[in-house]
Parts: sequence; C-alpha cells; structure tokens
Amino acid sequence: MRILVTGGAGFIGSRLSKYLLENKSEVIVIDNLNDYYDPAIKQANIDMLSTFDNFTFYKGDIRSVQDMDTIFSNHKIEMVVHLAAKAGVRPSIQNPQLYYDVNVMGTLNILETMRKYACRKMVFGSSSSVYGNNKETPFSEAHAVDNPISPYAATKKSGELLCYNYHHLYNFDIFCLRFFTVYGPGQRPEMAIAKFTDAILNGQDIPMYGDGSSERDYTYVDDIVHGINCSMKKLRGYNVFNLGESSTISLRALISLIEKNCGKDAHINKLPSQAGDVRITYADISKAKKLIDYKPSTDIETGIANYVKWYKENKQQSNPKTNIKIKHVK
Ligand SMILES: NC(=O)c1ccc[n+]([C@@H]2O[C@H](COP(=O)([O-])OP(=O)(O)OC[C@H]3O[C@@H](n4cnc5c(N)ncnc54)[C@H](O)[C@@H]3O)[C@@H](O)[C@H]2O)c1
Repeated sequence: MRILVTGGAGFIGSRLSKYLLENKSEVIVIDNLNDYYDPAIKQANIDMLSTFDNFTFYKGDIRSVQDMDTIFSNHKIEMVVHLAAKAGVRPSIQNPQLYYDVNVMGTLNILETMRKYACRKMVFGSSSSVYGNNKETPFSEAHAVDNPISPYAATKKSGELLCYNYHHLYNFDIFCLRFFTVYGPGQRPEMAIAKFTDAILNGQDIPMYGDGSSERDYTYVDDIVHGINCSMKKLRGYNVFNLGESSTISLRALISLIEKNCGKDAHINKLPSQAGDVRITYADISKAKKLIDYKPSTDIETGIANYVKWYKENKQQSNPKTNIKIKHVK
C-alpha cells in the first residue's frame, strides 16, 4: 500500500512509519519540522526512515494547498494517516489561533486534496482530551464530547467533525482514533514522563501540578502503532475508537515508578493545577477490542522501564546525520 503519513517526523508518526516500511508499505511523509520541540529530534527520525528504499520525505506544510497538491500528483496515495498537528494542551491556551489553523484548517486542506485526487481513506489521530472533564469513567465513545476545556481539545473535536462530514458527503472511510497519553522511547521531550526522567537523572526539580492525585491512562507507543495498524486493516465507513491501556496511574505513583527505574529520588516542586488540565483520563477500549481487534500489551511498569533504559542509552543522541538526501516541496 502507498500511505501518506502526515507528521511522520514526530514521535508517533515516525514509529508508525518505521513499522509500515518494515512491513513493505510505501510510505510518504509530510512534516514541516517545526520547532515546538528540538527539530534535530525530528530530523533524526527522518534520517532513520530514509534508510528504507520505499520511503519519501517532503518538508512541507499541511496547510499549503500547493504542498499537498505536489504530493498527491507525484504519488497515487491510497490511504492517509493524519498525525500532523500542534500537540499539547497548555501551549494551546497561549496560542489558540495557531492550533486552530494547523489542526482544523490543515485537516480541512488534507481532506479537500484527498477529495480532488479521489483518495477516500483516512485514519485521523484524535485525542482523549475531547472528553474534557467527563464525569463518567471509563470514557466511552458513546459519551458526549461537547465540552472541550482547552483550544487543543476543541480543535481535535473539530477535526473529528470534519472527518464525519467528508464521510457523509463523499463516502470517505475514516476512523478517528482518540489516543490516551502516548509515551515510550522517542517520546516528545516536553511531555511529563520525558521531563520527569530528565530531571530525576540530572538532579533537577520536578514541577508537580496539583496534589499528585490526578490520574492518566498512559498508552505505550507500540500499542498505539498496533492500534493504528488494526484500524488501517479494518477501515470502512466512519467510526471513532479509544486507544488507551484502560488502566490509570496517579501522578504521584508515576513519579515513584520513574524514581524506582532511575534509581534516584525526585525533588518535587509542588505547583497549582493548570488551566486546561483534566482530573482523569481513563479509556474504555471494549469497542476497539471488539471491532478492530485492538489488544494493548505493555503495562505502565514495563513501559516506564523500557523508556528509562532507552533514555539512558540515547540521551546524547541529538546530532542527526546530515548525509541523507531529503526532498523539499519548495
Ligand atoms: N503523544 C500523545 O500523547 C498524543 C495524545 C493524543 C493525541 N495525539 C495526537 O497524535 C498526533 C501525533 O502526536 P505526537 O506526540 O507524535 O506529536 P509530534 O509533535 O511529535 O508530531 C506531530 C508532527 O506534526 C508536525 N507538524 C505540525 N504542524 C505541521 C504542519 N503545519 N505541517 C506539517 N507538519 C506539521 C510536527 O513537526 C511533528 O513532527 C498528533 O495529532 C497529536 O495531537 C498525541
């Protein structure tokens, strides 16, 4: 299959692309390598993917009609896995226009380009943040998600609505996957597990927002790649699926687990809860288990051990190789 992965230089996109390339798909990636976090990390991901013959990279922007046109006219794309986005809840409160522009207008531009080139299959990376402060747990796809509590969450819900609209009007097959906090080797450096590991190993303070009782359903990145792959295989009609582990850990217990794996105590700096943060995320994954054969297999104890091991082995590795040819759209 010839698959366009948007945001394929990022954390989840690069792991998914590697899996697809290893399984003989042709993968085309578009990513603008923006500096939300160190672009050298994204460049290193592209360098790793560029070792595969069946890989093509475009440095471009999903909001650009011309960039999307170039890709779809150069390749007969059969399916899009749309992961490019401005991620992160707290920064979205500082810059809501940019989040709207990339996550909503960018998604619309991709859907429009797909319509133009008669490509009608998309897997869309949505987020558990659409559940906001949902009272009922675990969060089910049947629950109403009409009360987003951050601009980021509102853009993800808007993306799901656009996807439904293209399914309704043009018969696209689209699955929207609500990822529950994804972690693991290669994860975004500004996310909690990465920041905590870094701070503990370097003897720095950990900012702990709230009293440590907030709970998260953390999902190991290989389980997310597995869930995306299950969706690609079963893609038909329109549907929404939670992809999580369906198990929660409190912030305080998470810090203890990282301390144990690092072999060092954390210096905790207690700070007030942040606007936009939710009290709990907890996925009901029975629908994904039943309809797409999703079976997450890495619990948080194993996943954190893997992450800390990876961190210790790779933390020096921020110098990307520069000897690999990269195709530029412009
Ligand atoms: N990591 C998580 O915990 C998590 C949870 C829920 C949902 N998601 C969603 O999953 C997707 C991937 O997340 P991630 O953690 O890999 O994030 P990431 O930031 O590592 O990856 C996103 C990629 O998109 C690229 N990008 C951003 N704007 C772009 C634009 N205008 N044009 C082209 N490329 C652009 C970035 O450069 C980046 O490489 C995102 O849609 C995110 O919202 C992630």
